[in-house]
Amino acid sequence: MPSNNSVFDVCTVARDIVLIIGSLPRCGKFSQNTTTSGASARSGTQPIRLTAYTNSCSGCIRAYLGGVALEIIMSVTQLRTRGAVSPAPRVTAETLLQKKLANQPITAITAYDYPTARLLDEAGIDLVLVGDSLGMVVLGYENTLPVTLDEILHHTRAVARGLRHSFLVADMPYGSYHSSLDDAMRNALRFIKEAGAQAVKIEGGAQRAELVKQLTAAEIPVVAHIGLTPQSVHSMGGYRVQGKSLAAIDRLTADARALEDAGAVAIVLEGIPRELATIITSQSGIPTIGIGAGPDCDGQILVFHDLFNLTFSPAAKFTRQYADGAAFFAEALAQYRDDVAAHRFPSDEESYHLPREVQTALASAQPRVRKA
Ligand code: KIV
Repeated sequence: MPSNNSVFDVCTVARDIVLIIGSLPRCGKFSQNTTTSGASARSGTQPIRLTAYTNSCSGCIRAYLGGVALEIIMSVTQLRTRGAVSPAPRVTAETLLQKKLANQPITAITAYDYPTARLLDEAGIDLVLVGDSLGMVVLGYENTLPVTLDEILHHTRAVARGLRHSFLVADMPYGSYHSSLDDAMRNALRFIKEAGAQAVKIEGGAQRAELVKQLTAAEIPVVAHIGLTPQSVHSMGGYRVQGKSLAAIDRLTADARALEDAGAVAIVLEGIPRELATIITSQSGIPTIGIGAGPDCDGQILVFHDLFNLTFSPAAKFTRQYADGAAFFAEALAQYRDDVAAHRFPSDEESYHLPREVQTALASAQPRVRKA
């Protein structure tokens, strides 16, 4: 590990690699050296510019990185420097619309905590949703209904701290927008003012149009959510694919239209036939983001824990498991347990030691201590 006096950090910003050796430019006592190289596995045919800043003054890297020292970021995402301009612009509702118009799929995943938010942000995911799926995949509730406003606000704050690029949407939990428009407005404002969300998501069709209108008028972007809406689990009689009859198709297309007319910036289509999602997407002037709605939506969203086999329940048809997180963690945990049980962890190298002179002094002092 480098010490405070030999701080070393690398960040890549697009095609530039910046090496910071010693302390940081803001000390004002640094020298800069830039070279350009032509070949690299990472760069393909384009040259990479390598800039080294060298400085003997130490101690300010933590301040410069906003408390994040010694990290290597190998993506287009910039280091978390306070006040620095990010090369990857913040995704907004307008960005999502432009992606729809350009026929570029929108990527979206849920997150509930800071490390996941950082991973998604640095992977270039467009939209991060703090979904009320929180209740089931993180808090262990049976469904999403018990999730409280305070719980989602708490997790939204954590996610907001990890995002610089992705569009942050917070789910309004069941009960937080159902009793009155005033209540709903007050609760939605908390996500923007207190938790750092850029938009809120609400479930329901045309019956939410007035609320969407009012939130939009209060400068709160709204993502709508129709089809299989988990907060309606009791009125739907379970988690069932919606929109399978002609009457249901008419109802859902009318819902989508009403929500768009009311000002929604995007609409989640969950648990509906691919054919219906295609119709809504082609008729809609705002992006559709599908989950269990087939490949023809403007974007796709999945619950993080579904991607990584972390739900402890059978996977639904519409999910795809990209890695077996449960097996990965289980194996590592078994190794840790066995290492501790067999005195293999920690090793001497993983322990702190007294300075040599103190060890010597201690060794000669110990007999006296023992005698006393
Ligand atoms: O709560 C959630 O995670 C959601 C997504 C599945 C769209 O609403």
